[in-house]
Amino acid sequence: MGKNNNNIYPIFDRMLTRADKEELLQQHSIMIWFTGLSGSGKSTIAISLERELQKRGLLCRILDGDNIRSGINNNLGFTDADRVENIRRISEIGKLFIDTGIITIAAFISPNKDIREMASNIIGKENFLEIFISTPIEECERRDVKGLYAKARKGEIKNFTGISSPFEAPENPALSLDTSILTVEESVNKLLELILPIVTLKKE
Ligand code: ADX
Repeated sequence: MGKNNNNIYPIFDRMLTRADKEELLQQHSIMIWFTGLSGSGKSTIAISLERELQKRGLLCRILDGDNIRSGINNNLGFTDADRVENIRRISEIGKLFIDTGIITIAAFISPNKDIREMASNIIGKENFLEIFISTPIEECERRDVKGLYAKARKGEIKNFTGISSPFEAPENPALSLDTSILTVEESVNKLLELILPIVTLKKE
């Protein structure tokens, strides 16, 4: 519970609903939640998926680690507590998009089961599709797109996921995508197969 809940009078009951927004947009909103190591391909797949959904007339919003951490979460680091707060805020933001009828794609390491469970509880389990970008650490480190693995190995970055901070793989993801085996296009096609039937608005 937050600390300042006195004298607050939410107006949720008078606002247009998610169903109204979904009707306007002709889509059903969901959270597509990517989890995986740094450099596993989360952002790349998110960007490509967004384009494919847009081509089909579907409105999306990507929430991505490095973007969010340079804006609203720029006061957070990588301790366990900061990662929880990072994902808590992102989940609340994600919920706003879902409530606006927008298909939301979250690309965050979200390194353990508890953190992802918190996200799913905030967003609503029925709205939450967990996608594991399961690219092995050897491949992420070989790519080292941002040069962070090299720095982490030298001890220049503390609490680096996969090196000096744990990553817990999800037990029951809706889909696992290993980008050391699949091309971006193949991954996105698998995602579309899963997502399109869900986001298509059912006619009464
Ligand atoms: S999360 O663990 O809190 O979910 P998030 O996805 O927001 O992480 O941010 C991860 C990104 O931050 C990485 O892709 C990387 O670019 C950068 N980063 C900087 N320091 C670290 C670190 N110690 N561990 C992991 N990622 C880091």
